[in-house]
Amino acid sequence: MPNWNALKSCNHHSIADLFASDSQRVTKMTKDIAGLRIDISKTHLSDEELDIFQAIAKEMDLLSKRKALLSGDIINPTEGRSALHIAERGIGDDRAVTEAKLLQGRMKALIEAIDAGAMGEIKHILHVGIGGSALGPKLLMDALGREDTKYDVAIVSNVDGAALLEAVKDFDPQKTLLAVASKTFTTTETLMNAQSAMDWMQEGGVTDTLGRVVALTANPEKALEFGVDESRILPFNENVGGRYSLWCSIGFPAALGLGWDVYSAILDGASAMDAHFANSDIAENAPVLAAFADLYYTQVKGAQTRAVFAYDERLRLLPDYLQQLEMESNGKSVTSEGAHIDYASSPITWGGVGTDAQHAVFQLLHQGTHLILVEFIASKTPGHDFDPVHHETLLTNCFAQGAALMAGRVNDDKARSYAGDRPSTTILIEDVTPAALGALLAYYEHRTFVNAVMLGINPFDQFGVELGKEIAKQISQDGPSGFDPSTSALMKAAFE
Ligand code: F6P
Repeated sequence: MPNWNALKSCNHHSIADLFASDSQRVTKMTKDIAGLRIDISKTHLSDEELDIFQAIAKEMDLLSKRKALLSGDIINPTEGRSALHIAERGIGDDRAVTEAKLLQGRMKALIEAIDAGAMGEIKHILHVGIGGSALGPKLLMDALGREDTKYDVAIVSNVDGAALLEAVKDFDPQKTLLAVASKTFTTTETLMNAQSAMDWMQEGGVTDTLGRVVALTANPEKALEFGVDESRILPFNENVGGRYSLWCSIGFPAALGLGWDVYSAILDGASAMDAHFANSDIAENAPVLAAFADLYYTQVKGAQTRAVFAYDERLRLLPDYLQQLEMESNGKSVTSEGAHIDYASSPITWGGVGTDAQHAVFQLLHQGTHLILVEFIASKTPGHDFDPVHHETLLTNCFAQGAALMAGRVNDDKARSYAGDRPSTTILIEDVTPAALGALLAYYEHRTFVNAVMLGINPFDQFGVELGKEIAKQISQDGPSGFDPSTSALMKAAFE
């Protein structure tokens, strides 16, 4: 278990003092990698604290854990698995990389066949999946698919039929391909949405609805049982976790909708970040340093949340994506060995889009009582051709927020005072290109992994989601009795 005591007894310096005492601080704490400028200088991390973090990293075996992750060793002990998402980007165990390439080749071949008309005239892609089987493709399409794409892509996750209804409202059932994305191919919401989508197609005159289905799964047997033809099942290795699966066939709608070259560039961008994570010293390693900053605030300063604001409309879904990545990975109460932990694990990740959030929630960031590490993400290049003043204003506001959080302002009127000395990190991207987005997502994956190693927890399982699923099944099988009085009364009111 990590020991944070040495960090807790360090002298506290304000961020302004840290800048004043080290003219090289910005250079030292800014890393330029794969089109991303990552600046963590506006945090309270001092050289002394960075040294202590490095010592803790040594105690927690960060280097050998990194090696285990990258070489495809068992790194998920509760499930006895490796974590092979990095192999999808061409790095790691030879066998895993070869298999990933083979399966990606199969996806590419199917995409080429669909493009050539093998499934008839297809104009719309309806992707059903949930959690990791939806959030990644949704983010990729929203970020990179804003101009006309060859196919319209809609991604449906919620079991609420209203979501499906909205997704297909402009789709022609006769020209729709249904991608059913589920690692396990057992997820209730996804299978229900798949069935209803096929019913909708049938009502729209499609006679062979299964012939329009492509299955994206690590459980091809279940997809076969469902009735999908083997030629349209795109499998992936079960050691790729759901929240890490946009790099394999779960990325199919993005690869089809954006084109294979774009999808490949996303993988290449991720691979460039992997190389940085794999080969850089701890002291120079951006995901590691950012994880140290995360941990400084949760472990030393008691922060409970971490906020992420995308100052770019194209990245508006990033906070949603990161919520699953970070909270499903690191929201645990036991170590990898099953011991109870008596320190905080994952902070609550939340956020939004700038400048909107400035007019809604930033009051709390500037004057509220919570300590929150805020992350800003912006792109140097705009995603539109309107007057450049739009983008200048967007970026100016982004930088102003970080500066204001840090500087604060004293006023005799307490209600108009800003305490300042509030931390933030900033990621400035050259442009929201496929490669930069791939690098950004890989950066967050590695940062999440480093957080987990430092906390002594296994980021690759998610047993916490099971109990609710089981109880939902029990309710649908046994009806509303046998539960606590509140739950029983609610169900009686709803169902009887
Ligand atoms: O319920 C959580 C979860 O298992 C996630 O980890 C996963 O991304 C999601 O459900 C969807 O699971 P599947 O891809 O197996 O349908």
